[in-house]
Amino acid sequence: MSSQPRTTSFDADTIRGEFPVFDQPLTNGRPVTFLDTAASAQKPRVVIDKERECYEQYYANAYRGVYQFGARVDEELEATREKVRDLINAEEISEIVFTSGTTMSINLVADSWGRKFLRPGDEILLNEMEHHANIVPWQQIANETGASVRYIPLTDDGRLDIQELDNCLTEKTAIIAVTGMSNVLGTINPVEELARRGKQVGALILVDGAQSVPHMPVDVRKAGIDFLTFSGHKIYGPSGVGVLYGRRELLREMDPFLTGGHMIDRVFKEKSTWAELPARFEAGTLPIAQAIALGAAIDFVNQLSFDAIHAHERRLLEHALARLQDEVPGFVCHGPGLEHRGAIISMTLEGVHSEDLAVLLDRRGVFVRHGHHCTMPLHDLLGVSATTRASFGVYNTLDDVDRLVDAIHFAREKLRLV
Ligand SMILES: Cc1ncc(COP(=O)(O)O)c(C=O)c1O
Repeated sequence: MSSQPRTTSFDADTIRGEFPVFDQPLTNGRPVTFLDTAASAQKPRVVIDKERECYEQYYANAYRGVYQFGARVDEELEATREKVRDLINAEEISEIVFTSGTTMSINLVADSWGRKFLRPGDEILLNEMEHHANIVPWQQIANETGASVRYIPLTDDGRLDIQELDNCLTEKTAIIAVTGMSNVLGTINPVEELARRGKQVGALILVDGAQSVPHMPVDVRKAGIDFLTFSGHKIYGPSGVGVLYGRRELLREMDPFLTGGHMIDRVFKEKSTWAELPARFEAGTLPIAQAIALGAAIDFVNQLSFDAIHAHERRLLEHALARLQDEVPGFVCHGPGLEHRGAIISMTLEGVHSEDLAVLLDRRGVFVRHGHHCTMPLHDLLGVSATTRASFGVYNTLDDVDRLVDAIHFAREKLRLV
């Protein structure tokens, strides 16, 4: 990683100060307790400033203008591409495709790779903890190609049941599509092992890094990952921009996903030929300022260092689980123990509807998400229709955790459970 860590000891209060959104108290005078980073992270000043810099100083369309602004935009975009390459240790910048986010990245692979290479009888190996973004595109392409989707069973504590892998991973498996970290259970999946086992039967692996890339180091070459996807907005960057990493040999064989401007080499009246990578997969106008500011977000997390981020989020998680388990009757945290999870707590409270809980927590300035979190198969498996999720980021403090627990006590009182 190129940028040097700015600090080894993690001062969450100082880091919180870098996020302008926390400068304002809420209308009821309470501080913002933002516990919905898994849905979308808040933005540090450096990211906001970088996006503004682009609009104020050199905005132009990308890869089209020979004039100075155009050249600067291209330079800045390529700088971000290089930062992404470095972040995930890809071999070449041509393997880094800008998309609108994880959802588009997975759709791109399912469509461009799946339509060309899946055959009737092939299997796509999923599991029930996947986000809908890593299920539905595969169902669609399976229907169109005669392939089918298959699911690795989960253990009772919400991990992949690796003992069952021999039964599900066979010569028929064309691709394993798996999340690096579950957006509900927090489960961190053994991606490297899956990739290695997949290779033994000739299967590719796509890792949905929407939740893992912002919180832990991901090395595509070391882990043997063929495709990696993530979203800018979850790594403290802008919304509207995301990344697809694909191994060059795979991307080169794939047909375009969207077609139109920029992705062509030559257009004739009857047919067209395709541009080189990554332009072939970047039809139309990119989210220019957003992609440029994604580079600032990557610098931001690199400077904090993933080791420090992990240690900090682990402290928050431990404190939250200890207090919730100790103090809140009927509290159930779905997912595995601490050693297998990231900083996400999806809970159910006996006798409390998840929406009521979220609404009452909001009265205390505590922002959490409730619902199925785009994981209906997982909620079916858990036997609940909804959960309330608290998820943590670099700006959260132990005080935030305490405010969460206090607000849950408040909610239980309001619901006359005490
Ligand atoms: C694990 C996971 N995959 C995919 C997505 C979809 O990301 P996006 O909406 O940025 O495309 C999310 C978003 O919550 C997610 O948590």
